[in-house]
Amino acid sequence: MRLSVIGCGYLGAVHAAAMASIGHEVVGIDVDPRKIASLSKGEAPFFEPGLQEILADGIASGNLRFTTDMSAARGAKVHFVGVGTPQVKDGYAADLTYVNAAVDELLPYLAEGEIVAGKSTVPVGTAAGLAPRVTATGATLVWNPEFLREGWAVQDTIDPDRLVAGVPAGEEGETAASVLREVYHPSVAKGTPFIVTDYATAELVKVAANAFLATKISFINAMAEIAEVTGADVTQLADAIGHDARIGRRFLGAGIGFGGGCLPKDIRAFSARAEELGRGESVAFLRQVDEINLRRRDRAAQLVVEALGGSVFKKNITVLGAAFKPHSDDIRDSPALDVAVRLHGLGAWVTITDPAAIANAQRVHPQLNYVEDRDEALREADAVIVVTEWDEYRRELDPQHAGSLVRGKVVVDGRNCLDAGAWRAADWEYFGMGRP
Ligand code: UDX
Repeated sequence: MRLSVIGCGYLGAVHAAAMASIGHEVVGIDVDPRKIASLSKGEAPFFEPGLQEILADGIASGNLRFTTDMSAARGAKVHFVGVGTPQVKDGYAADLTYVNAAVDELLPYLAEGEIVAGKSTVPVGTAAGLAPRVTATGATLVWNPEFLREGWAVQDTIDPDRLVAGVPAGEEGETAASVLREVYHPSVAKGTPFIVTDYATAELVKVAANAFLATKISFINAMAEIAEVTGADVTQLADAIGHDARIGRRFLGAGIGFGGGCLPKDIRAFSARAEELGRGESVAFLRQVDEINLRRRDRAAQLVVEALGGSVFKKNITVLGAAFKPHSDDIRDSPALDVAVRLHGLGAWVTITDPAAIANAQRVHPQLNYVEDRDEALREADAVIVVTEWDEYRRELDPQHAGSLVRGKVVVDGRNCLDAGAWRAADWEYFGMGRP
């Protein structure tokens, strides 16, 4: 099928390449000429495992191309809209400028029977607002939210755990849903749940999923706060409650909390939208979720201060990690980088290393010292803090070896990802988050 994908960021670039890899003929469109130049050469403009390969294959096969020219969308059966919806600068709401602009610029190239499939995460009610403009061209608007995780984006796009399509009522909606089933034919053939809803439900599914995940993380981090004053161990607590299948162990990793381009902004936008709808109290708990999450960053910095006897002033602190999570170079709202900035603000000499995110971090926080090589970064440290659980630190960093590089064997485990026993056995003072 001929497809267009408007917006070639984390979502759109992966979607375009993934759709080409399952046999569609895809054009990716973005206003950023640098992004388009890189993608056209088959080079991923950001770090995402597996993307490089499917991009290069798609371009080599002729199934995939990229352009800044919106008229290239003409003739596609489905037009996916995957532009960003960042937080507005003066509040919590989502900024819909890019979604509105993308749809408006697409309108002249739409034809009868085509489908516009919104993938961006939007406040509930957005699709209903956009639909009349799309319908006037003879095309149909559907909302088809995306649940991909960075670091697993290719796999999550090609083989998602569910597909959701918000469609208009009646035959028009049924036809649109069956076209989307064809688009996602390999998933549909293997029995992946394909849930057809109205617009509002589809929009809400996305924000509800992210709100639930954020709440789960803040729940366990709240337990970490209680563990800190009682001497309990939050990781054992998580293991124990996680054995209850109704609760489950995933997303019960206590530490410095969540960040990234989605969870923080999505829960804020959800609160803002609920308030507009006169139902602010229904999701008032999301404010608490946000607050608990942000408190963990303070706590991590404070742990380093305590570990060094009350001050980090003029102390060498090595920060292991900058990305908001491993397998990503994304530093948007990264708790890791935030902790580093806080320590710098307290007068520490902060050295940061990360396997993928240094270039991005340096652009935003040039005041910090970045070192590519992990061992080089550890040299002469008075304390080490792990803030992104890359395998390079979690599995591959031997505490004996690390101990031979540093000045002070003090380690703060901001992700509760190290083997505390092994670090203590190697003479390190180990501090976890919510662990004795
Ligand atoms: C998230 C959702 O998972 C995805 O479905 C949605 O489409 C976009 O938002 P992503 O932002 O890629 O995906 O990251 P995710 O893996 O969900 O992690 C989010 C943050 O939570 C990271 O900072 C991570 O370190 C943190 N986290 C995750 C925890 O602090 N503890 C956990 O137990 C799990």
